[in-house]
Parts: sequence; structure tokens; C-alpha cells
Amino acid sequence: MALPNDNDDILARVKAETDIVRLIGEHVVLRKSGANFMGLCPFHGEKTPSFYVYPGTASFYCFGCGKSGDAIDFVKEYNHLDFQAALRDLAARCHIALPEKRLSEKERREREKREAMFRLNGKVADIFRNHLASPAATAARDYLDKRGIGEAIRQRFALGCAPPGGNFLDKHLSTEEQKLAISLGLIVKKENGGNYDRFRDRIIFPIFDAKGHVCGFGGRAIQGDGKPKYLNSPESPIFSKSHLLLGFFQQRQAIAKTRRAVVVEGNFDLISLVGHGCEEVAAPLGTALTREQLRILKPLVEEVILLFDGDEAGLKAALRAAPLFLAEEMTGRVAILPAGEDPDSFVREKDLAAVRQLLDQAAPLPEFFLEQLITRHGLGLDGKRLIVEELKKLVAAASPLYRSLVISHFAGRLGIDAQAFEESHRPERPSRPSRRGEVMPDFFSEQEPIPDFITETMPELAGQITSLPGAVPTLSPEERRLISFLLLHPWSFAALMAAGIRDCLGNDAEILRQALETLLAEKPAASAEDLLAVLPPGAERAMAIEILAQGGKRFLGDPQGELDDILLWLRRRRLRETSLRLLAEIKKARDDGNQPLIRQLLQQKQEADRELSGDP
Ligand code: UTP
Ligand code: MN
Repeated sequence: MALPNDNDDILARVKAETDIVRLIGEHVVLRKSGANFMGLCPFHGEKTPSFYVYPGTASFYCFGCGKSGDAIDFVKEYNHLDFQAALRDLAARCHIALPEKRLSEKERREREKREAMFRLNGKVADIFRNHLASPAATAARDYLDKRGIGEAIRQRFALGCAPPGGNFLDKHLSTEEQKLAISLGLIVKKENGGNYDRFRDRIIFPIFDAKGHVCGFGGRAIQGDGKPKYLNSPESPIFSKSHLLLGFFQQRQAIAKTRRAVVVEGNFDLISLVGHGCEEVAAPLGTALTREQLRILKPLVEEVILLFDGDEAGLKAALRAAPLFLAEEMTGRVAILPAGEDPDSFVREKDLAAVRQLLDQAAPLPEFFLEQLITRHGLGLDGKRLIVEELKKLVAAASPLYRSLVISHFAGRLGIDAQAFEESHRPERPSRPSRRGEVMPDFFSEQEPIPDFITETMPELAGQITSLPGAVPTLSPEERRLISFLLLHPWSFAALMAAGIRDCLGNDAEILRQALETLLAEKPAASAEDLLAVLPPGAERAMAIEILAQGGKRFLGDPQGELDDILLWLRRRRLRETSLRLLAEIKKARDDGNQPLIRQLLQQKQEADRELSGDP
């Protein structure tokens, strides 16, 4: 990926000024391991550390999940940001001013429109909030009182209310604002002229994004018979129900501090729990939990506890969430409330301690899933068959890392053979990806044993890893040496190309080759770090980091001498191939009875063999 030029300098400065150990140390507990640091990987669930931070190369690498990169990559991954946003964050951290990105006319207009929409929503939230405090809103205040929602919680969630009637907002908005309010669905145009409000006679919950913009609203009917009970803003350019969590903005610090999130289903469940002191809470907006919502929580938490009603709907909602957790490699647990209760009624009848007890006893999601299926289908022959069918879907959703874990877990509980189970469940292998930067199948296979360098340099890890997923090279020792050398000494690329490494590396090293070519065209004396800066994320990059992290040790000798060795090896490798090819051609020529050709080929083969055997 080429960066715009004016960014290059900033990027280099930001990287130089960012202390990666300190940066990552703010999110991961790191301890020193030799010259480097290790800790629990923030990107996948693990109990023993396989996440390394290398101050020397200002990089990180997880031997468990293969995530790797520099400070920018870390911020990108950890906070789910794109490159520009991550760079902006890091730049702000080290007080480096970024030039304003030059936007196209269209981008600029869209951005202004979004900003205007956020502004309008903010204003409308204020209007509703002020109304809740006004003399006209006695009914709404009584309602909140009755439900035990005190002043502090009203403020914290910026609760408001919309009066009955339906011509309330218009009066507070300019014509321009009214137009925008119509496009956001806050005001509806009547067919015969005139407008009316979407939210009428409702308690209003502004819905914030993680940055505190008001994206939309939810409204709870104040009259018991108001239909529907809850109403949300319609989807708009700034409001997508499935991508937002009610309460996340207000509770994100508590969530980050406790490293867990309790997900409840209802708006009042959320504010009622917070009011009672259970602060690490968030709620989807009346729809099933989505993967996007889990991803909002993911960087902050070690686990998510679903605190759902004990009715059929609650159980179903928990079951539906299971595949999402497995796909995201997140730890989920389920706490089910006694029949007829929701978190709000429960905490009000009992107390915070009772809620905490339920949360403590929450069952791991996969276990809950299986137990639910067993309750539903029983463990008879037919039951097991049905269960296996259901599990098939769950296992298919799991990330490769979790799949075998999940399978062995389920197989054990069902008393069936894990191997057979696995075979019947093996999802179709995805066709070999051709997209650049994805994987290098010839280099990286899942079955590779633990490479020596791990056993040597990280014995404490070696015992815990049986096979490394994804990012382990299946190179012959020579090929590995070749690529390591190339990564450490990019300047050797031309010589190695001339000696035919291209054949040796195969098509799968195209990305590496292209990165090197581009880099060297600009900077003939490029270093390994320069290469790292231009390699796109993917297996090559992971490998480069891993090799660089322990590179010093492997190539202590004189690089030129090392290069000569490698060139010799390449030459011999070519000769061996030539010799084999000639042999095949000779056989064919013999079948054809082509004597002159045989003689010519034989002579060539003898020359190759002579050089191979070391004769001058
Ligand atoms: P519930 O029906 O369980 O209501 O809906 P609740 O949260 O207990 O509501 P209260 O306590 O009577 O106020 C759970 C959630 O589903 C969404 C809302 O977000 C609600 O909090 N919902 C419910 C809707 O979006 N629309 C509806 O009509 C009902
Ligand atoms: Mn309720």
C-alpha cells in the first residue's frame, strides 16, 4: 500500500516517537522476557502468554493467532480503526500535527452533512431533555420515578421526553433543521401538508456512538398501552441499529476497567442496572446481538456475559449469539434470570449482590449451547443426531483456532469420537485465496511442527504450542535461510534474483518480491525496517517480523559471505533441476530414437553433473 507522500514523513516521525512497549503496555500487562516483552494477546482469548513486543524492531507478534505489526497496526487492530484514524490517534499522542486530509468535493459535502446531522440530533436530544425538566412533563417524570430512575441516571443517559400531540419539534427547529429532521425520520411529512413528530408521549433515550455523537433515539411509551412499546429512529446515514450499543458510550470506562461487559436486552434493564451499581453494561437496540456489536466490546473486554430473561425468547437469543462469539474468538457466558424476571425487575426486587451472584455463576456459552440442545432433544439416538446437526452450524462458524477446541469439547460431552465428529464437520476448505496479501500456502501450513527457533528462543512457549496456526513457514531449512536473509538484507535482492530465486520462491512470494522491487527502486540500500514498513499485512509480514525479531542471532557472520553461500546453494539447486530435466528429455529422445539429440542432451547433463560434483 503506497502512502500519500506528505504522510511518509509524519508516519516516520510518529513511529520514531512512539514507544511501542509503553503504548501496548497501556492495554496489555507486559513482562520482560530477555530483550523483549510478553503478555496475554489482546486479539484472541488465551490463558498463557504468546504475545510478544519487540522494542528493537518496534513491532509485536502473537505466536497464538499470528497478529503482528507495528504501533500503527496495533492501534488499528485494537481499536478497530483504519490506517488514517490510527495514524491520527498516534500522532495526537505524540503531539505531532497532521496535515488536514484533502477531501474531494463530494467527501467534504458528505462529511459536512453528517456533521450537520449529528449537530441536529444533539440539539433534539437537548430539546427532549429540557422538556423532561419542564412543568409540562409531570407524567414522564412520575413514570421515571415509579420505575426508580433517579436524577443521576437521567443525566448520565441524557434521558428526555417527547410530549403527546406531535407538533412539538417543529417549533424548536429552523426550516433548514426541519428538513434535516425529516431526513433522519424525527419528523414525518404528512400527505396533506404539515408535519408530525415520530416520537410522541415517550421517554427518550439518545443513542450515542463511542465518540459521543447522538446517532439516533429510542423512545419508550409512557402510557402503558402506547403502541409500539419501544420505537427507534429509522436507519439513516448516521444511525445503524446493528452497529451501536445503547449505553456503551456512558459505560465504556467501567467496561474497560472490569474487562467485561454485561449485555442486557432492554433499555430499562440497562439504566436500572447502572443505577444499582452494576456499571459494566450495554444493550443492543431491540434486535438480536450482532457481530458488529460484539466488536465494539472486543477491544475492551476479556468476556461478555449475556444476562437474558429465562423465557423462550431469552434462551433463543443466547443460543443465536453463540456462533458470533466463536467467530470473533471471544469468551461469552450466559446468565439466565428466573422465570418472569428481567434484569430491571430482578435488581429492583433483590439487590446488586443477587445480580453479581447470577453473573458469577454464568455458564460458558458453548456449554450453555450444548446443555440447551440436550434439554431440547435429549441424549437418545435421534436426539444426538439432531444435536450434531445443530453443532455442525456452530462449529462451522468458529474460527479455525477455536474449531478443534470446540469439537473436542462437544465430542467429549456427547460421548462420541472427536475424530469422527471432526470429519463429519469439516467445513468445505475455502478455495485457495488468490487475493494479494492473504496467505502464502506454500510457505505456511497448519500442520507444521513447532519451528526450532521457538524451542530455542522461547522454551516456555514451546511446551504450550502443539502446532501454530496460520503463520508458520513450511520451508525447507535452505529456503527459510534464503528468505530470512532476503528480509534482513534487502540490498541482496538483485543478486539473488539474478541467481534465480524467483523460481525458488514460487508464485506465492510475489508480494514479497513486489514490495522489494518497489522499495529498492526508491532506496537501493534499504534496510529490513524499511521493508517492514512497506510490506502489507499478511503472512509475509508476520514472517518478516518474526524473522527480524530473532534475526540478529541467526546471521552473526559477514553478510557478504552468507550471500555467497546462498548464491552457491541456489546455483547448485538450479543445476540439480537442470540435470533432472535433462534426464527426462534424454529418456524421451531415446523413445523417439533421436540419436543426435540424445548426444547433445547427454553432453549438457554431464556438464551440469560435473559442476554439481564439485569438479572445475
Ligand atoms: P421487552 O419487551 O423485554 O421490554 O423489550 P423491557 O425492556 O422489559 O421494557 P420495559 O421494562 O417494559 O420498559 C426489550 C427491548 O426490546 C426493544 C427495546 O429496546 C426493549 O428495551 N423493543 C421492545 C423494541 O425495540 N420494540 C418493542 O416494541 C419492544
Ligand atoms: Mn422490563
